[in-house]
Amino acid sequence: MNVGILGSGVVARALAAGFLKHGHAVMLGTRDIGKLAEWQEQHAGARTGSFTVAAVFGEIVVLAVKGDSALDVLRLADGAALAGKIVIDTTNPIAAVPPVNGVLKFFTSLDDSLMERLQRAYPDVRFVKAFNSVGNARMVNPQYAGGRPTMFICGNDAPAKQAVGGVLDQFGWETLDLGSVEAARAIEPLCILWCIPGFLHNEWTHAFKVLHA
Ligand SMILES: NC(=O)c1ccc[n+]([C@@H]2O[C@H](COP(=O)([O-])OP(=O)(O)OC[C@H]3O[C@@H](n4cnc5c(N)ncnc54)[C@H](OP(=O)(O)O)[C@@H]3O)[C@@H](O)[C@H]2O)c1
Repeated sequence: MNVGILGSGVVARALAAGFLKHGHAVMLGTRDIGKLAEWQEQHAGARTGSFTVAAVFGEIVVLAVKGDSALDVLRLADGAALAGKIVIDTTNPIAAVPPVNGVLKFFTSLDDSLMERLQRAYPDVRFVKAFNSVGNARMVNPQYAGGRPTMFICGNDAPAKQAVGGVLDQFGWETLDLGSVEAARAIEPLCILWCIPGFLHNEWTHAFKVLHA
């Protein structure tokens, strides 16, 4: 599978390495490919390009950019290049202010989410929320004594979610599908919860797991 990853940060790099490890072809998209030169030397076969070139390259696309730039990046990627494609949305709507006692502030409300904004702006894109509520170091085949952690996903397109579930299975996760795009109102704030032990106790290695009776 050709995977286009919009982003050059730690999430883009971690997921790119994961897709490469599992035998997929990867292109990272950025405004400045120079910043990926060293990373690319260490990751044989990885390609880099503009946001548009990466969006066109991907049969499946990953959005891994700063939350407040997500809409701009989709525009730079040329929304038309993404029409009909699955876009795995890893972003969180983190506001540009410091956390309060370890609690991040979002620029969305509980009646709205970033993925809903993206879906409204690009109705032909098959967005699936995933990978937003775990640290980048544990995104690919994390090892826990308690078994596979749970990745919460949502989106309006059932086949797209099924395909992302396949990726998650390959990446060592169990998937909990929470329904349509509106569920991002609940999934995105899991990032706030996940970060609290990090900010308070410098503990960044955990992941969520749902237990079923
Ligand atoms: N860090 C984590 O462990 C983690 C875990 C789960 C989810 N997330 C979420 O995943 C996303 C990516 O996080 P990250 O830590 O890897 O990177 P980040 O620092 O949040 O974002 C870096 C990316 O955002 C792009 N960007 C920033 N400002 C921009 C602007 N004004 N216009 C266009 N593009 C802009 C950069 O583009 P260029 O490449 O062109 O510079 C770069 O690719 C975020 O939404 C974050 O909340 C992060």
